[in-house]
Amino acid sequence: MADQPDAGFDVVVLGGGSGGYACALRAAQLGLSVALVEKDKLGGTCLHRGCIPTKALLHAGEVADTARDGHEFGIKSSLDGVDMSGVNSYLDGVVSRLYKGLQGLIKSRGITVVEGAGRLVAPHRVEVDGQGYDGRNVVLASGSYTKSLRGLPIDGERVLSSEDALRLDYVPERAIVLGGGVIGVEFASAWTSLGSRVTILEALPRLVPAEDDASSKALERAFRKRKIAFKTGTPFKGLDKTASGVSVTTESGETLEADVLLVAVGRGPATEGLGFEGQGIEMDRGFVLVDERLRTKVEGVYAVGDIVPGQQLAHRGFQQGVFVAEQVAGLNPTPIDEAGIPRVTYCEPEVASVGLNEEQAVREYGADSVESLTYDLGGNGKSQILRTQGFIKLVRRTDGPVVGVHMVGTRVGELIGEAQLIYNWEAYPDDVAPLVHMHPTQNEALGEAHLALAGKPLHAHS
Ligand code: NAI
Repeated sequence: MADQPDAGFDVVVLGGGSGGYACALRAAQLGLSVALVEKDKLGGTCLHRGCIPTKALLHAGEVADTARDGHEFGIKSSLDGVDMSGVNSYLDGVVSRLYKGLQGLIKSRGITVVEGAGRLVAPHRVEVDGQGYDGRNVVLASGSYTKSLRGLPIDGERVLSSEDALRLDYVPERAIVLGGGVIGVEFASAWTSLGSRVTILEALPRLVPAEDDASSKALERAFRKRKIAFKTGTPFKGLDKTASGVSVTTESGETLEADVLLVAVGRGPATEGLGFEGQGIEMDRGFVLVDERLRTKVEGVYAVGDIVPGQQLAHRGFQQGVFVAEQVAGLNPTPIDEAGIPRVTYCEPEVASVGLNEEQAVREYGADSVESLTYDLGGNGKSQILRTQGFIKLVRRTDGPVVGVHMVGTRVGELIGEAQLIYNWEAYPDDVAPLVHMHPTQNEALGEAHLALAGKPLHAHS
């Protein structure tokens, strides 16, 4: 490390989102001196314009559905309307309480927060407003931005990013959602609950195409029931703005009209102009390339979160941040298994998974070495009480551990904790089958599915 400058800090973190602030917190906890550079607000996309406000919006939608559907449960209720300013102040309240808590936490750990836009000007130096901050280690955590398509500029009024969509002070009467991935189906779900008529356009043959085929089918069935229109295998072609909104044409020659178009075709790495490439960091289409220990090609420089190729999930960023802090502190942490990172899409019904889907498992182990079992939530008491439909699908290696858990249904996201332990601890169905599951819960369905896969189904039709 002879070529490194005298380091002012043990760690300089560039970016205060989930990945960056988790790294700063853990590094400080381990006794390292830390500078955390953030140009906007600590907490980043997840806290201010991503995970937290969108899940609050979805919850507001759930409340609207509950009021609207009370009669199904013998309750006299109705939805009188949606007051978006009230919904937005609920969202803002959730975000600002968490933001305050995070700021207090960062302060209490003695982390030096540098406000301003940072740039890597030497391998171990981040410059902010002309001032250099040197670190024995530098962690790049600059996050991601909403991508669009060529010729489709986001104007924030009729053509929206998810961030713009969270700032609307009205519920669009008709909306087109471009992209049937995670953001697309979550907004389609929330807006439908709040009273919009939504159409999703997805280029690939199914909604949530990264999930198991069976999960996509179940979600599509549920969306049809909710009257959420979707067109799969339908790439976007062009957009015209009309007097009252947008007119969208598809590659298949259809024209659709709506008040707004939400663009949800993925997020790109926010690395442009930050000087990474100039310092010898290996990049690919804006992403920072790292090894399994999150090291870039430049010694002492790491990257975490959405700028690292892989799933762009806040909790992945968190864990990567913690990993790097521990690595820098010499604790030799175990590399993260990407497939073991839980995934939940918070539309209604929810879609949750961990591990490999059936297609991936077959590719990895061969068709003869993979078994799957689907347990229908119809046999689960709590799911009946909630009036939800769906399933739990297990994928296992023949005579081996469970390598994938896939679930669809109201609230199944809350089951992902047990599912991730099963996957990450490489449990066999016989390990899970004897565990007593609380009755009546949806967790029981996970227990039942494992009983069935272990060859002793109880509440399942064989
Ligand atoms: P995504 O990659 O999940 O979905 C984008 C979709 O747009 C894909 O299905 C793709 O086939 C489709 N698409 C692309 N070009 C198209 C075209 N020309 N015409 C029609 N469809 C087209 O990306 P998304 O939904 O924008 O989310 C971005 C990131 O944010 C994801 O990595 C996601 O994991 C993360 N996120 C996670 C959430 C969660 O964990 N609950 C919630 C929201 C976002």
